[in-house]
Amino acid sequence: MIHDLKITALIDNKDNPQKNNLHTEHGLSFWIEADDIKILFDTGRSDLLMHNAKVLDIDISKADYLILSHGHYDHTGGVTACINTNRTMSVICHADIYISRYSRQPDSSMKYIGISEENSQALNQNKNRITLIDTPYFINDNIGITGPIPRIKRYENTGGHFYRYIKGIAKDLIIDDLAIWIKTEKGLCIITGCCHSGIVNTLSYINKLEPHQPIIAILGGFHLLNASNERLKNTAKYLNSCQPEQFHAFHCTGNRAIDFLCNTCTFNISQGFTGMTTQIGA
Ligand SMILES: [Fe+2]
Ligand SMILES: [Fe+2]
Repeated sequence: MIHDLKITALIDNKDNPQKNNLHTEHGLSFWIEADDIKILFDTGRSDLLMHNAKVLDIDISKADYLILSHGHYDHTGGVTACINTNRTMSVICHADIYISRYSRQPDSSMKYIGISEENSQALNQNKNRITLIDTPYFINDNIGITGPIPRIKRYENTGGHFYRYIKGIAKDLIIDDLAIWIKTEKGLCIITGCCHSGIVNTLSYINKLEPHQPIIAILGGFHLLNASNERLKNTAKYLNSCQPEQFHAFHCTGNRAIDFLCNTCTFNISQGFTGMTTQIGA
């Protein structure tokens, strides 16, 4: 079991209400301290996380692992800066981290939203320390990575108009989307990137991989921006059955979804922000 778990949001879309020397961008990055293991989970949209890490007195060169939740630009933007700063950390992600991907914009134009050429090259030049996973992966007995998450619930989808090609053909199911869990004495802490698999699919899968463990904390982007009312209702119902002590919604969750969850869930919902720190399972 992990006894001392502390998570800090290095990058989120929302400003820090107290610290105006932290910068914000559309993206997500968490710094996770789990006893003596340090994990960087995603890297935001640019190398801005390096600045925020400095302000927050976090040393990226001390990370043991870089885990990339999926290959979107807003999670892989700081890869080069992090890999160059930390020459020893292991990188864990799915092979689809490298693929090209696009999203259809409201005006019907197509926007490239995959990893940048520079960050892709940085990964390629460090192949010796990359582990590509397509099944659950255990860092140790207490920290696991889902790998691809089965899409079981019909009401959940990737949450956007995502395609593999600029012509708008071949839907991108973002199968590389992964989450991690950390086992504390009280139960599991679950951390997601964009959660394109759906939070219910994600939690259900982790529940299968780690049965009989209560879920005590959930943090991440939940990509509920375009969620149907049916999806929101079912999501709230499932989350109510979990009753986490902590629930922090970041990044792409969406204000409408957060309002809905605040009004429907019977536990505390919090809006995450850049620089937010929380202790879990203590
Ligand atoms: Fe995202
Ligand atoms: Fe994403």
